[in-house]
Amino acid sequence: MSKSRCKKTIAFVVSLFVALFLGGCETLSLAPQGPAAAEIARIWWILFWTALVVSVIVFALLFVALWRSRRSDVKQWRQGRDTAFVLVGGGIIPAVILIGATILTFSGLAVFAEPRNATNLAITVTGHMFWWEATYEGQDFTTANEIHIPVGQPVRINLESADVIHSFWVPQLHGKIEMIPGWTNVIYLEADEPGVYFGKCAEFCGVQHANMEFLVIAQEEDDFQGWLEQQRRSAAQPEDDLTRKGQQVFLGSACVYCHTIRGTNASGRLGPDLTHLASRRTIGARMLENNHGNLAGWTVNSQAIKPGNRMPPMQLEPESLQALLVYLESLE
Ligand code: CUA
Repeated sequence: MSKSRCKKTIAFVVSLFVALFLGGCETLSLAPQGPAAAEIARIWWILFWTALVVSVIVFALLFVALWRSRRSDVKQWRQGRDTAFVLVGGGIIPAVILIGATILTFSGLAVFAEPRNATNLAITVTGHMFWWEATYEGQDFTTANEIHIPVGQPVRINLESADVIHSFWVPQLHGKIEMIPGWTNVIYLEADEPGVYFGKCAEFCGVQHANMEFLVIAQEEDDFQGWLEQQRRSAAQPEDDLTRKGQQVFLGSACVYCHTIRGTNASGRLGPDLTHLASRRTIGARMLENNHGNLAGWTVNSQAIKPGNRMPPMQLEPESLQALLVYLESLE
């Protein structure tokens, strides 16, 4: 390889690494917004710098060895000095580093323990193919794909699965933890600042694993209490003819076998609770913005948008569809 091509290749590899590295930092675990994520990031940085220093030293020694091997006079093994070098450099130093790294990572498991200042609030999050059900314990309501928590307080999250193994991960707030059928794992989520935090399934669970995402919304105490109160209410009742017609379309269709709207006869449990659908930012587990056009497309044929999800396509007259959408959009 010519000298300039070699330089170009090295520059390309370095810039690729920097781009991937910095690109990932923005929203992921290296930009922590909660105490548990901060601890995980701290451990990550210690391991990263240790690995970097070790790699630089090892590669430097390798190049020195290759360089010197061209000279015939140094091929003799010097008993004592060379043996000690191999034992220390190849045995003792790696052992000390690996034992240190092991202790560090095991001590990091403490972030999964119950914090002393944990609140009474508990949310059971159930993983489904391919969405998230969130039940607020003792509050008598269930929502989907958006988990609201009060800021600055560790909130208990019970993690379960309705079908296969999923994994719950909010990179800026905590580490990953599995959701296993027939078993409950527990994690305590705490956010330092109010904000919207991205979460996703981190265990391959089927064809739409990549589109199994959610949001954690951390709110100031007053805003959070307001949200709880609104979610506890039954669904808004229709106030005009079009909305009433939309409600009839919903209640007269197969929708009711899978979805619940509290305050009506719809009490299906297979799909997301729609009681306050219009208060949510996204549909399809954060796949689409929750707006009129997207909701229409999703209602008619979500299989074209997210193939393999459990909602079948729906045959509806245009007027019925419009009324249904008006009704769904009234569910704030
Ligand atoms: Cu659920 Cu991957």
